[in-house]
Amino acid sequence: EVKYLKDYRPPAYWIDNTELNFDLQETNTLVKSVLNIRRNNDLSDKTIPLVLDGKNLELLFVKIDKKHLDSDKYQINSENLTIYDVPESFSLEVTTKIQPQNNTSLEGLYKAGGIFCTQCEAEGFRKITYFPDRPDVMSKYSCTITADREKYPILLSNGNLINSGMTDQNRHWAQWEDPFKKPSYLFALVAGDLVYIEDFYKTKSGRSVTLRIYVEHMNIDKCGHAMQSLKKAMKWDEDVFGLEYDLDIYMIVAVNDFNMGAMENKGLNIFNSKYVLAKPETATDIDFWNIERVIAHEYFHNWTGNRVTLKNWFQLSLKEGLTVFRDQEFSSDMTSRPVKRISDVRSLRSFQFPEDAGPMAHPVRPESYIEMDNFYTMTVYEKGAEIIRMIHRILGKQGFRKGMNLYFKRHDGQAVTTEDFVKAMEDANQADLRQFRLWYSQAGTPEISVKRAYNHKNKTYSMTFTQKCPPSPGMSEKKAMHIPVAVGLLDKAGNDMPLQLAGQDKPEGTTILLNLYKTTQTFEFVNVYEPPVPSILRGFSAPVKLRAEYTSREQAFLLANDSDEFHRWDSGQRFFAGTMINMVQGKIKNHDPDVLGAIIEPFRKTLLSTELDKAFISHVLTLPSESELGILISETAPIDPELIHQVRRFITHAIAKALKNDFERIYQDNQEKGLYNIDAESIARRSLKNLALSYLGMLETPEIIKIACNQFNKAENMTDEIAALGVLSHIQCSEREKAIDDFYQKWKSDTLVLDKWFAIQAGSQIPGIIDKIKELLNHPDFSIKNPNKVRALVSSFCGMNPWQFHHISGNGYKFMTDRILELNAINPQIAARMAGIFNHWKKYEPSRQKLMKAELEKIINTPDISRHVYEIVSKALV
Ligand code: ARG
Ligand code: ZN
Repeated sequence: EVKYLKDYRPPAYWIDNTELNFDLQETNTLVKSVLNIRRNNDLSDKTIPLVLDGKNLELLFVKIDKKHLDSDKYQINSENLTIYDVPESFSLEVTTKIQPQNNTSLEGLYKAGGIFCTQCEAEGFRKITYFPDRPDVMSKYSCTITADREKYPILLSNGNLINSGMTDQNRHWAQWEDPFKKPSYLFALVAGDLVYIEDFYKTKSGRSVTLRIYVEHMNIDKCGHAMQSLKKAMKWDEDVFGLEYDLDIYMIVAVNDFNMGAMENKGLNIFNSKYVLAKPETATDIDFWNIERVIAHEYFHNWTGNRVTLKNWFQLSLKEGLTVFRDQEFSSDMTSRPVKRISDVRSLRSFQFPEDAGPMAHPVRPESYIEMDNFYTMTVYEKGAEIIRMIHRILGKQGFRKGMNLYFKRHDGQAVTTEDFVKAMEDANQADLRQFRLWYSQAGTPEISVKRAYNHKNKTYSMTFTQKCPPSPGMSEKKAMHIPVAVGLLDKAGNDMPLQLAGQDKPEGTTILLNLYKTTQTFEFVNVYEPPVPSILRGFSAPVKLRAEYTSREQAFLLANDSDEFHRWDSGQRFFAGTMINMVQGKIKNHDPDVLGAIIEPFRKTLLSTELDKAFISHVLTLPSESELGILISETAPIDPELIHQVRRFITHAIAKALKNDFERIYQDNQEKGLYNIDAESIARRSLKNLALSYLGMLETPEIIKIACNQFNKAENMTDEIAALGVLSHIQCSEREKAIDDFYQKWKSDTLVLDKWFAIQAGSQIPGIIDKIKELLNHPDFSIKNPNKVRALVSSFCGMNPWQFHHISGNGYKFMTDRILELNAINPQIAARMAGIFNHWKKYEPSRQKLMKAELEKIINTPDISRHVYEIVSKALV
């Protein structure tokens, strides 16, 4: 059941050509495949049988070289079709029957909302037909689709349309051919009643590429932003990496029922509609950004993923880490680099760090898995991207580009490994990344502590770094890693000092990259004219936990002065978090006026700053969330979510009260002037304005309710509308109920906007909200089969409402178990994601621990638990 990297063997057979034929019908779909198969002669054993993967398939015929194969010549079980005694090279024809309309797993070929579509990554192609469903078997595909003309006027697959026609009056067909070899996970098919917008892109070498975005009829007015984003991404990849698109057409299809964000199928991306559809009235500023980011991500996969693909699934980060890095860089160039970095690090710390410290902790290149779908993780994606970012930092921009060029030169058209990538980076730069490779094989977040000492006599300053990495499942001992730490030193006036290491003959700028290789390592700076305040881990140069032991005074100083905006924000967060954690742990009293004063003064200074970027201000003034505080606390003590909730609420309320006038002014000064725009500056202004509104909302006065209602009623864009609704959603009043009703009436025909409506209610801080959520499960617009709806109503409850999810009654836990078990039978991928909410049960105080453990046991003892859910829950229980 467990698959291991060490067991990897090259395939015994190659598939040079794959000819697929789909007959799409309402009750049964017939899939005929003709494969040109050739034995892999690199293997010495010439007698290995042909083993094809297949799941939930009804096998109708098998032919070898056009002759029917008797059933005693092959074997089928629930996972494979095995054919003994095959020639060295032959054609295999297999016909299977499937029922896409009953496929609620949304993996393989499925029909939802009247549209046939596919999701093959990671191992979904085997639910379509028998095939060596592994990424190192690359084949040239052609695909013919036949379907009812009225119901499914649009028939799409990868590559170029080469022919089409009618079979009879009612049915039509289309034949697509993809000139590039690809693994099965990149295959795609779409059939439905769709419409499209079209545009063109002229590549740098002068070819014209047709760009199309296919959507349902009612969404045709919401594709413009996605199209602009695609064109920007195409241009950026040419400018920054010299990479050009390679087919004549690039298609994107938006569907409502989709497990993940989107999928990079060659020439035919399939997207969760959430990451395509936008207009100002229905999408928030964050939605606009996310669309730009995901469109770019999938586009970038054409080179990092498709042209160069994976040897096996253990290498997933080869394409995902690298492509996330690329999309982060793209977004930084399109928006604001520091602000992008801050939000990426915030999410890394909130989700990846806990994952790396929990039962599912795994190296960026995992050693084993039970169900690959469970390894589309923050670790593989986001920590993987951090690894690439460190390489980028160590080799420099140009060195990195040289490495990329060599990587494509060597491996275009191949299925390769993370090792091949690192090797190309090394060889192109004559660099030594041997120790650095540990980032791929060691799980866990390294911790760095720093001892610093100033020598008044010699004017030297020394910093001693010590690194350690806590044990992870299956790996108790860790080796010292190569960790790049960017450092600056501030003088008393808050200015950067020129930096000169002992042994250097002159200063080297004001930020220096220190490379840690050993468990303990000392660096000495010379000509340091006064005792400095160090700015350590600038730009978050490595994904580590820094224990710098700053005093709160130093933190406030760095918040006010650091030239590195990331570190400036980080210092502010540590400062605010530190105070709240001390309160939670009873080290300081809530009502101590000095404590409040200490928080409120730097807060006010930041809020009223006229030099700082407004987006940056909003990030600084967004206090660490209850979950973030819980994570920090769990490093030394058990989590009590109720207590954390009370303290954070107390602090935000105190800030709101003390700064009421300032917030009101900020709110007024940042109103929309003139036309609505989605440029970075307007977005920043709205985010500051709505942050002010949300603090004011804490006061729950009739006056504030009026302001929020006013914004809600007048809003002409979703950002302001949903921000106002969010503020009202936490206040028990008749205006709240009316706003929620009005919103529903206004948007009931727009399923993506309704997701926001569900999510706002699930995140409401009103006590006892769980009863309302249970009621909403029966709302006619809710569907447990639609992953977006589940995420909106169910996952938002755990994410946005931790204290109610963790309610001591255990009702929140029971509610989640019921959903997990319900989904287990419908969509195991989504069920397993959800089961992850109990992963950190050991970090909570004893009574909640006990309750969560009981839920995990209940789940694992349920008959027919899927492999997906089993893997998560069994690991959590270890
Ligand atoms: N490759 C896709 C992307 O990151 C995600 C596919 C996720 N598939 C899965 N089975 N979890 O762009
Ligand atoms: Zn991806």
